[in-house]
Amino acid sequence: MRVVLGVSAGIAAYKACELLRLFTESGHEVRVVPTRDALRFVGEPTWAALSGHPVTTDVWDDVHEVPHVRLGQRADLVVVAPATADVLARAAHGLAGDLLTNTLLTARCPVVFAPAMHTEMWEHAATRANVATLRERGSIVIDPAVGRLTGADTGPGRLPDPEEIFEICLRVMAGRPRDLAGRKVVISAGGTREALDPVRYLGNRSSGLQGYALARTAVARGAEVTLVAANVSLGDPAGAKVVRVESAVELRDAVLSAAADADAVVMAAAVADFRPAVRHDSKIKKTSGEPEPIELVKNPDILAELGERRRAGGPGSARPSVIAGFAAETDDVLANGKAKLARKGCDLLVVNQVGEGLAFGTPDNAATILAADGSQVEVPRGPKEDLADAVWDLVAARLA
Ligand code: CTP
Repeated sequence: MRVVLGVSAGIAAYKACELLRLFTESGHEVRVVPTRDALRFVGEPTWAALSGHPVTTDVWDDVHEVPHVRLGQRADLVVVAPATADVLARAAHGLAGDLLTNTLLTARCPVVFAPAMHTEMWEHAATRANVATLRERGSIVIDPAVGRLTGADTGPGRLPDPEEIFEICLRVMAGRPRDLAGRKVVISAGGTREALDPVRYLGNRSSGLQGYALARTAVARGAEVTLVAANVSLGDPAGAKVVRVESAVELRDAVLSAAADADAVVMAAAVADFRPAVRHDSKIKKTSGEPEPIELVKNPDILAELGERRRAGGPGSARPSVIAGFAAETDDVLANGKAKLARKGCDLLVVNQVGEGLAFGTPDNAATILAADGSQVEVPRGPKEDLADAVWDLVAARLA
């Protein structure tokens, strides 16, 4: 595929070298189009050597080849990383003062922006409006990651890891539909931990891989994603807002608050049904010699609560429009799944068999997706991304 990598003047330009390598090493032809000031951070020889093509910022070089229109017209993907507040503004307003902005105006292929800037600039009303305009026009603007910025600052504004940006670009190039553009989705992932004392907990084996695959694929399909992650040790998926939680009660609060204005909620987290009745403030000692029984109390059933709220009606009760759950079963998989779908009042239930070597912690998954209208879709064993896309196909169809 022909990729144009736009680089604007942010310190994160050095990370774009890694992104460029990921593209070239997987066989894509990349033309790098830096802005003039981007070359203050990473120089022209680096881009030329890594891409194997000459690099210019200017519309006045090689005029006979009409580069200001050719690059955009011929591209299968344009990705701008890092995208500064300035380049977002110029793109949103259709300015065309240099080769990069000309290319953005002539490109008819998917365009991905990976912004990086200080938090104040990212949160400024002007930038918010420019991002909204670009998204409305169909561009993908990946939310920046939260973390250490240049200097001593921390906050939203970091360029996501090059691998994450690359992953999104691949999915966009694979022609995934942009059917979640303008939609807000909430995904829970991982497994809750219910504290017994400051050092011990009751937990489960969920790795969070399926929930993270749901987040990544939803971003690639254009959604605004909130990912509520319970004890997941994976890197944040680019473009998702990640809220970290530990227990079922924390997960419930985070999911319900994000669900209030969401179009869809997908509960992929393995939530503990019970928690210890008492959380000891100090470490439990084995002084008596005999183990003490652990008394358990019920945790809230978050999926059922989402369904009940919607059924009960009242202000805001139309949201989320689509509620999906996962059911991990070891026996009577389909019969248990159907009963669970009805009991929880959700629209979709992804039923999969778990146990030794199945689902938990593995990159693959197979499942049957049951729908409240009685239909069902079989998803054969494959990458968790494929199952995620199958879920979004059904969610998008219900939102349309
Ligand atoms: N779930 C939830 N809150 C809970 C338990 C589960 O929201 N307290 C959600 C899970 O995120 C999942 C779905 O409900 O999407 C089904 O989870 P599962 O553990 O299979 O179902 P349980 O309700 O625990 O039913 P059972 O223990 O009878 O299998």
